[in-house]
Amino acid sequence: MDILSQIEKATLPKHIAIIMDGNGRWAKEQGMDRLFGHYHGVESVRDIVEGCAELEIGYLTLYAFSTENWDRPQYEVIGLMELLVKTIRGEVESLNKNNIRLHVIGDVNMLPDYAQKELAEALQITKQNTGLQLIMALSYSGRWELLNAVKSIAHEVKSGRIEVEEIDQDTLQKFLTTSEFPDPELMIRTSGEYRISNFLLYQLAYAELYFTQVRWPDFRKQNLYEALLDYQNRERRFGKTGEQVKASL
Ligand code: IPE
Ligand code: IPE
Ligand code: MG
Repeated sequence: MDILSQIEKATLPKHIAIIMDGNGRWAKEQGMDRLFGHYHGVESVRDIVEGCAELEIGYLTLYAFSTENWDRPQYEVIGLMELLVKTIRGEVESLNKNNIRLHVIGDVNMLPDYAQKELAEALQITKQNTGLQLIMALSYSGRWELLNAVKSIAHEVKSGRIEVEEIDQDTLQKFLTTSEFPDPELMIRTSGEYRISNFLLYQLAYAELYFTQVRWPDFRKQNLYEALLDYQNRERRFGKTGEQVKASL
């Protein structure tokens, strides 16, 4: 039986988050420059976005560039920014045609002006789309996000709009960059690294984590299906006992 037909539509995650890792090593293994890996990584993005849309997944968050990635060699950072702009320009029409809406989370003010402009246009063009919500994490890190949320809440308290006693998890949630989206149920990281690297630190509290050795430029729908099948064979307990979970089904 092929793997896609084993996936149960009813219990798919609503939100999948992916750390797209391994582009550099993939390129090096072929004696090529790291940027070659990033260019090929775009093909995986296309395939996985299409795969998620076909499965009617609600939200897909892709970690494309972290706050820490600004510390990479200048030529790689510039190469990535140019690739980002080129990709958005090339893909926006197809996103629109497929009813996919683009969102961005992260410190976009750090991006070069030409990239900010391209992104703003793509956000505007896809604004009406109600299918897959594609969230690009760019110049993003979980600590940056939490720090900003804390500062914003402190401002609210200072100006008297919120009482300290009123602050609860909903308040915090409202000040995160992901306030419009549900938390991811599944987080995938490619390329054999077993860490979170400052991605969605708050939102991944109860996510199922899936790690694969496959480098991002080799990751295709078939690999996504394997991750989904693995996810569907897990028991999500949220602190309860296995017996309690079974009884509630
Ligand atoms: C992920 O691949 C892409 C970005 C971080 C932009 P890497 O560039 O981290 O590839 P490796 O981990 O060095 O192989
Ligand atoms: C995480 O990958 C960030 C992205 C995939 C955009 P990195 O390759 O930067 O993470 P570390 O440095 O290995 O933890
Ligand atoms: Mg990496």
